[in-house]
Amino acid sequence: MARSAILNVMVQAAMKAGRSLARDFGEVQNLQVSLKGPGDYVSQADRKAEDIIFAELSKARPGYGFLMEERGAVEGEDSQHRWIVDPLDGTTNFLHGIPVFSISIALERQGQIVAAVIYNPAMDELYTSERGGGAFLNDRRLRVSGRAKLSDAVIGCGVPHLGRGHHGNFLLELRNVMGEVAGVRRLGSAALDLAYVAAGRMDGFWETALSPWDVAAGILLVREAGGFVSDGKGGQDMLDGGSIVAGNETIHRSLLKTLKKPVTPR
Ligand code: IPD
Ligand code: CA
Ligand code: CA
Repeated sequence: MARSAILNVMVQAAMKAGRSLARDFGEVQNLQVSLKGPGDYVSQADRKAEDIIFAELSKARPGYGFLMEERGAVEGEDSQHRWIVDPLDGTTNFLHGIPVFSISIALERQGQIVAAVIYNPAMDELYTSERGGGAFLNDRRLRVSGRAKLSDAVIGCGVPHLGRGHHGNFLLELRNVMGEVAGVRRLGSAALDLAYVAAGRMDGFWETALSPWDVAAGILLVREAGGFVSDGKGGQDMLDGGSIVAGNETIHRSLLKTLKKPVTPR
């Protein structure tokens, strides 16, 4: 599988940061962590990984801007290009020794996501995609699942926790969804949730209150694997609006409908 020069740059940055995260994951107990908010820790590992990605991408494409979780927005001379990066998605898993976390890097060109890398260093799973070129897990081409019925589907979600709002609304959504599907999962990394939808491991995924760096790369992966992605209302405001619904064409449609149903007591 031939990768373009720009995708290679992204893969190199993700792998280098991934090696650093993997080392720190091995010593997770010894890491000093600072509390950013209840249930939302930022570790030194997180910052180190972001520094590596920032340095690698800046060196390869000096003018491009950034939107990164820790640094925030960094303007570049080139207003056409922006990297959208989460150096560690799945921080809570990472700190608890659960090997489900990832690095997510997307490249936006003129407001459109054109390349994406999501890497889980603990499992050495590298997801890559370029607009129009398909989606891959390592060297294997990805396709969303073919399941058409919600009753056969495994659906991923995000569960709000301490310090986050939307608890009541999530429970209403979950009540609707769990009554119609074969299983519900909560991985703890939105980037990997979307990568799993692209890989056909999960048939659909929904979450609210996300940030652009959680979803930018995953949106392209799902689409390039033949899937559908929208915000919770069926529109396209996923990056700024924070809500997302993904799946194959049928599951995406059914999931949107199910999420919006008025809840009937059971
Ligand atoms: C979190 C993960 C998680 C999602 C949270 C995100 P972080 O990102 O993507 O799955 O439910 O809302 O904030 O904090 O681990 O980078
Ligand atoms: Ca995140
Ligand atoms: Ca993060």
